[in-house]
Amino acid sequence: MSAMPSNDLEGLPVRRRDFLALATRAVLWLTGGAAAVGLGRYLTYQLPAEPATRFTLEAPEAYPPGTRVLVADAGAAIYRDQSGYFARSLTCGHLGCRVHPSDDGGFACPCHGSQFSRDGARVNGPTARDLNGVALSLDDQGHLVIDMASKVDPTWRLMMDATAGGRSQDAAADKG
Ligand code: FES
Repeated sequence: MSAMPSNDLEGLPVRRRDFLALATRAVLWLTGGAAAVGLGRYLTYQLPAEPATRFTLEAPEAYPPGTRVLVADAGAAIYRDQSGYFARSLTCGHLGCRVHPSDDGGFACPCHGSQFSRDGARVNGPTARDLNGVALSLDDQGHLVIDMASKVDPTWRLMMDATAGGRSQDAAADKG
């Protein structure tokens, strides 16, 4: 007598093959979908907006002689002395950290300890440079505008026409 093969075992290899084919298709679909999403993101990628470099401030009258005002958004300090208005970047010339007001009335860099006077002149290193001067101008509404992308000599001043009540659209720059 010979034993007949069982029908229960005959179908098992076929089911395994079906399962593997189905799993392969699923993996291919998932991989293709992920690739399509990545391609879509690549094709629609937009460069991040450039950081702002121009900041509108108060009217000049808001800054009386002797003023030093920190403008946190711009990373600058605005000054007015007897010669006019000027601004200094608060970025340390050593490795680019933001300086902070110090107890002595100047500025100190938290990264490596550079120190600056009240108007941004270097007092101690490791930086070898003063804080950069940056340009000021007047807009059409008579507000001061600071342009962080425009460096100026530290002696530069924005002067106002005294005959116009300390305010003028024809503000002059003294490079001397
Ligand atoms: Fe200011 Fe180094 S970054 S001292």
